[in-house]
Amino acid sequence: MRVRNKYRKPTAFPCNVGSRCSISAVVWSLVGFLLLLQFYSLVSRRNEVSRDITLRMSRHPLVRELEQVEEENIQIPPPRGKRSPRAAKRRPKRTTTLVDEFLDENSQIRHVFFPDMKTAINPLKDAGNGSYYYYPGRIWLDTEGNPIQAHGGGMLYDERSSTYYWYGEYKDGPTYHAYKKGAARVDIIGVGCYSSKDLWTWKNEGIVLTAEETNETHDLHKSNVLERPKVIYNENTGKYVMWMHIDDANYTKAAVGVAVSDYPTGPFDYLGSQNPHGCESRDMTIFKDDDGVAYLVYSSEDNSELHIGPLTKDYLDVKPEMRRILVGQHREAPALFKYRGTYYMITSGCTGWAPNEALAHAADSIMGPWETMGNPCIGGNKMFRLATFFAQSTFVVPLPGIPGSYIFMADRWNPADLGNSRYVWLPLIVGGPADRPFEFNFGFPLWPRVSIYWHRKWRLPSALSV
Ligand code: DGJ
Repeated sequence: MRVRNKYRKPTAFPCNVGSRCSISAVVWSLVGFLLLLQFYSLVSRRNEVSRDITLRMSRHPLVRELEQVEEENIQIPPPRGKRSPRAAKRRPKRTTTLVDEFLDENSQIRHVFFPDMKTAINPLKDAGNGSYYYYPGRIWLDTEGNPIQAHGGGMLYDERSSTYYWYGEYKDGPTYHAYKKGAARVDIIGVGCYSSKDLWTWKNEGIVLTAEETNETHDLHKSNVLERPKVIYNENTGKYVMWMHIDDANYTKAAVGVAVSDYPTGPFDYLGSQNPHGCESRDMTIFKDDDGVAYLVYSSEDNSELHIGPLTKDYLDVKPEMRRILVGQHREAPALFKYRGTYYMITSGCTGWAPNEALAHAADSIMGPWETMGNPCIGGNKMFRLATFFAQSTFVVPLPGIPGSYIFMADRWNPADLGNSRYVWLPLIVGGPADRPFEFNFGFPLWPRVSIYWHRKWRLPSALSV
């Protein structure tokens, strides 16, 4: 006889206590489902990252050349003059760093950072075998044989003329201090513009936005500050729109200015300046997204944070919407780019004209939140990496035909002679797991690594149809 076990647990849900059990079952299944979903998205993101590297390696072997790690072994010269043993005892010798040498106008190794005219990149003379090589830090001549004046610059690729336009601060004047403790400065001359089809041979298109000589109340009066001009094209209005940092000589105005032109080569009409969102705005950039919406990014609150907000449809103003990002991180010189739906930004620290450590940041949405990933610099030596190769970010140019590859544009400022500041252009590659990711999820880094590779001499892969 089969005895029925009255204590046997039912295999089905005991539906007499029914609704409570089925709710908890649904909740648990939902939690499980969400966890699975999260896991799946992370795994697919990781796969995407590694697929990316594989793709890049297989499709573009020439990129490997750009990713070669080049070391620098620069010896710091011994201190000048003999020190008596007594003097040496009295004052302990301070160790000199490469940054000290960089900032010392009389340094014996000055030529390493600021090579002279004899080594200048000259597209006319170097045509042929030596063509297309970038030499970070060397004087770079335009097609008339004059040093390019486009500091703190940005690049516009004009689809209509299939031409690159490089805009920047024209600083070919004397460097002086307007105030005893003020930053070194050059009077405003205007915004220089250069055009090129190959990103190497640059034709001077002249000063496309000029300084105001007489009216002292004008933003562009030569005694003020005009920095970091950037230009984008507006498809709705057919106008080229320039945004720039506008300030007074002691950087208290902290404003942003706008100018507009029918042509990439100007002349640009100056429309005025503002404190965007009622805030201070110093180092800045603009970024035009794939959907045509453009954004202004600027250092604010005493440079302690960045602000970001969309521009109006005509790109002539900011909309009221604004987000505070990288709060408390004290970053400036923002340079933005986008790859596979993720936004990236390179910034510098805030040390005036002196070089400091770059950081890379990433975000899923341009309005944030933004995560800080770490120092993107590779090669050179430790000091080179901690000083962004003795340069400061200004713009990132996408390389056509090589997804995930860019030119990192930076300025090697020469505080004693700002007009003789140099350009440091280097390959920037997105791909591979971040080595110091701030954000981890299930052990996977959230963002691929952004790498800027040091090269004394390099050129774009010849496969590139620039
Ligand atoms: C650092 C900024 O990035 C530059 O554009 C310039 O404003 C200098 N500071 C002035 O010291």
